[in-house]
Amino acid sequence: MPTDAAAAFRFEANPAPVAAALRAERLIDPGFGRVFTDHMATIHWSDTQGWHDPRVHARAPLTMDPASSVLHYAQEIFEGLKAYRLDDGGIALFRPEANAARFRSSARRLAMPELPESLFVQSLEALVKADADWIPTQDGGSLYLRPFMIASEIFLGVKPAAEYLYMVLASSVGAYWKGGARAISLWVSHDYTRAAPGGTGAAKCGGNYATSLVAQADAIRRGCDQVVFLDAAERRWIEELGGMNIFFVFDDGTLRTPALTGTILPGITRDSILTLARAQGLRVEEEPYAVEDWRADAASGRLVESFACGTAAVVTPIGQVSGPDYAFTIGTGATGQTTQRILDQLTALQRARAPDPHGWLHRLD
Ligand code: PLP
Ligand code: COI
Repeated sequence: MPTDAAAAFRFEANPAPVAAALRAERLIDPGFGRVFTDHMATIHWSDTQGWHDPRVHARAPLTMDPASSVLHYAQEIFEGLKAYRLDDGGIALFRPEANAARFRSSARRLAMPELPESLFVQSLEALVKADADWIPTQDGGSLYLRPFMIASEIFLGVKPAAEYLYMVLASSVGAYWKGGARAISLWVSHDYTRAAPGGTGAAKCGGNYATSLVAQADAIRRGCDQVVFLDAAERRWIEELGGMNIFFVFDDGTLRTPALTGTILPGITRDSILTLARAQGLRVEEEPYAVEDWRADAASGRLVESFACGTAAVVTPIGQVSGPDYAFTIGTGATGQTTQRILDQLTALQRARAPDPHGWLHRLD
């Protein structure tokens, strides 16, 4: 299929969409990742036909052969981004081209075919247009889009599959955190690592999340909200959370985040924050930061704030940090000024309430 024929996503309307009154009820307090829309987008790939049959159709369970290779060898990648309802009634996606590029790079790492970026973006546009009534309008609400791809060949041999299925789900969401925005507590895992040099840390593949769950469960058991991972080689350098990047703010205004060494997911929120901060003349460092320095700097007052960031979590302040034999508070333990300012700037831009000098908003109208 020629790539620019992608505009031709065949639309097959859901014959039994959720009734408007029920939809309105579900949109009141949707939480995260539980309320799904009426449709989904799909594209097939095979080694003989390439990308074919792009469609938007009723969201429905999949019928899969139990020998489908994704079920055995986890050849799966995904993305996450949001569509927003703007004050003028329009709809915008935030930096979908960046997700398209990262999806291709994840595909390369998992030996999967690379979906052309235009097809990726058009699959989002087609689905969001079909399910626009599902975008929550309240502050903090959005339509979370989950593009993903699985190896669908029926074969138990260990090799890159010869068939794949790309899909997009849309989920009406409110705040990621139950109980709304507040400073979270982190557990530093000294037992488990997320990614090793040469591994898949920079790819957004389901396997990375599967292996993070035991560490996250450990964090919860110890009374913390989230786990933070250290590097696999020296077990010193702070990398990221299970589903968010991390930033540090120093008393001289410097902003630091771990460099992209190949073991960290190159977050689009991370990149947006770095770009906004640099444009404002803030000092920004992409440098390693050791957990013992984090602890000492928090105690001395040199480190004044820390926050996590990602599409789902947006910008989330970090209040407390603990490890096996230590615990410390960041700043006052509440949301710091810089964290709040970055959150406000980013959300204003995403909702077209601030200028968009980088052309990050992708309007659907
Ligand atoms: N790190 C991990 C492991 C993630 O899962 C995510 C979420 O997608 C992020 C960082 C932040 O990435 P982004 O800002 O592109 O959502
Ligand atoms: C996202 O922010 O899009 C993610 O994929 C993170 C996940 C924890 C929901």
